[in-house]
Amino acid sequence: MDVVHTVAELRTRLAKEPSIAFVPTMGNLHAGHLALVEEAKRHGTCIVASLFVNRLQFEPGGDFDRYPRTLEDDCARLAAAGCHVAFAPQEKELYPSAQEIVLSPPLAAAQLCGDFRPGHFQGVVTVVAKLFNIVAPHTAVFGRKDYQQLFVIRELVRQLNYPVAIVGVETKREADGLAMSSRNGYLSREERAEAVRLSRNLRRVREGIAAGRRDFDALCEGARADLAGAGWRVDYVELRNRSRLVPPGPADRDLVVLGAAWIGRTRLIDNLEIDAP
Ligand code: PAJ
Repeated sequence: MDVVHTVAELRTRLAKEPSIAFVPTMGNLHAGHLALVEEAKRHGTCIVASLFVNRLQFEPGGDFDRYPRTLEDDCARLAAAGCHVAFAPQEKELYPSAQEIVLSPPLAAAQLCGDFRPGHFQGVVTVVAKLFNIVAPHTAVFGRKDYQQLFVIRELVRQLNYPVAIVGVETKREADGLAMSSRNGYLSREERAEAVRLSRNLRRVREGIAAGRRDFDALCEGARADLAGAGWRVDYVELRNRSRLVPPGPADRDLVVLGAAWIGRTRLIDNLEIDAP
């Protein structure tokens, strides 16, 4: 696997590649990220992963400084997974001067995480657009773990006509159901044991709907109350329809429940798709 640090080197390395499948990441890779690499292998002959902690998408006072940076381990894992090129630019390489030109995210970003992380999705769409321009992939692979992000990226590609096929991959979970995340590393032992409560509550919402319930507000409120009762600070637990990511109407059957909540100093997010009867 080639490890490349500059845009110029990367463009040279990829110039003759006929079929590039791209996995953007912020590094500190876990099995969830590696599942994206596995999926990417089905879509291209040259697999490129980026490792870049994007300051633009962290809110002021966020965890940019303490976000784990583990480049050596990450490269070893990527190589073992069959990745061909790791792109790990320094911050000055992607942002040599202030990034004055930024993209305005779609309306779907103005809710859920967008309500609690000002500027986050603007930072995400801006860096992903830059990475698409640099890597020029045919396919890009994203996790459904970040469900709203995946939706927003699909809009980015659709509304700006990027010639990139977007592929979503199912969330990888720990044995107890906790969605894998680089931020799980922030959890103390006690918090880690408690962290499963988020996915457990989303499952409970799903079971309620699968059993025919349509009192969505009460179901979500039940989940929020359970989390808050156990000491979590809840940002949101909400239902959306999958096609437009808006609150479901009476005819909607293709749903997703999304949640974000703080356990101590750590913010966890998760979601589950639900097929209502
Ligand atoms: P990061 O949080 O590193 O995630 C990189 C990719 O891995 C995203 O597509 C995310 O959805 C996926 N991922 C994370 N945990 C996963 C899990 N448990 N199962 C499946 N996929 C998972 O998302 C970002 O970085 C950044 O916002 C980025 C898109 C790279 C832009 O900076």
